[in-house]
Amino acid sequence: MSETVSAERWTEVPLAPPDAIFQLTAAFKADTHPNKVNLGVGAYRDDNSKPWVLPVVKKAKEILAHDPNMDHEYLPITGLPEYTSAAARLVFGSDSPVITEERVTSVQTISGTGANHLGALFLSKFYHWNDKRVYVSDPTWVNHHQIFPLVGIPVSTYPYYDPQTIGLAFPAFLEALKKAAPRSVFLLHACAHNPTGVDPTREQWGQIADVMLEKGHYAFFDSAYQGFASGNLDNDAWAVREFVRRDVPLLVCQSFAKNAGLYGERIGALHVVSPSKEAATRIKSQLSVLARSEISNPPAHGARLVSLILNDPELFEEWKRDIKTMSGRIIEMRKELHRLLTEELKTPGNWDHIVNQIGMFSFTGISPTQSKALVEKAHIYLTSNGRISMAGLNSHNIRYFAESLDKAVRGQL
Ligand code: LMR
Repeated sequence: MSETVSAERWTEVPLAPPDAIFQLTAAFKADTHPNKVNLGVGAYRDDNSKPWVLPVVKKAKEILAHDPNMDHEYLPITGLPEYTSAAARLVFGSDSPVITEERVTSVQTISGTGANHLGALFLSKFYHWNDKRVYVSDPTWVNHHQIFPLVGIPVSTYPYYDPQTIGLAFPAFLEALKKAAPRSVFLLHACAHNPTGVDPTREQWGQIADVMLEKGHYAFFDSAYQGFASGNLDNDAWAVREFVRRDVPLLVCQSFAKNAGLYGERIGALHVVSPSKEAATRIKSQLSVLARSEISNPPAHGARLVSLILNDPELFEEWKRDIKTMSGRIIEMRKELHRLLTEELKTPGNWDHIVNQIGMFSFTGISPTQSKALVEKAHIYLTSNGRISMAGLNSHNIRYFAESLDKAVRGQL
């Protein structure tokens, strides 16, 4: 009797749900309504709802296009050295002891997501765990919940956002830091918290650092919005630099998607701080092995662009102005939305959080039902948790958005 060997039919592969954020982008693109508004994905748009290629990036592209030595050879496994070192200086500051003592290992990654993944993979393999888990803020960027379990690190949450005050749940956050097993890993948003737009104050960061030191916790910083919180690159790196100054053990995941508008170039970096140069060398050797097996060598174009911008003093100054343009327009939109809701429409509730929150996002505080009504009835795309990307608002659509939000809040949509 002969046995039949059947080809794999994948009958046990379940259908996964679509990505909450990129599904919105697809639905927005497919929508033909003339007043549609995309407040879903965190991507900067100009006042005409168009993607903005930063003027400094245009200049850097020109320079690269005319470089006679340009080729398409492999980059080193850990990335373009003049990019990774400049990226480290940007986050830690040029005079930081971790730079001058060569105690930071910097590796080029596939944007912030790749940095989170590589950092998680590294910790999964080499961290001396007491309790193998990562604590993330409740809420956090949706992708954090997927990245860590994929490398065998379960995710727990710590209280972060207080719906009552539409602000930081600080006492509960501190309590969670105190209650966690010693040497726990806490993921912290370096600035411009995604999705809430609520950051700890400097004093609160100091108290967070105190407990982290007491408990020997590890800070896993995600820095995707440097420049977007205050419009100033140094101010937005304050928390990371303060933690370095106080010797909290840490790593930083860095992205240039938002602050350089290089979303599709996938340019980021992972920076692991060590107690010594010698440890940094060993860490680099291991990160090289991990990077080699996953991507072999990172893509070159974005790294070359950012390297030019960071290493040329004139381009660097121009970049800072471009960041101010983006963050300034978002601040204007916050003010105008607040004015429309409170002064013109007299929308029920307190809307001060719209101007108090910072960065690209605002957590409006509206319910999932109200968010759904905005999507389905008003063609305004936002995530179901009520997060809006302020960068999607402009002088043409802000009134329509404010009026629709007003109706949703009054249950009239
Ligand atoms: C967002 O939160 O909208 C962005 O960070 C885009 C993404 O990758 O989810």
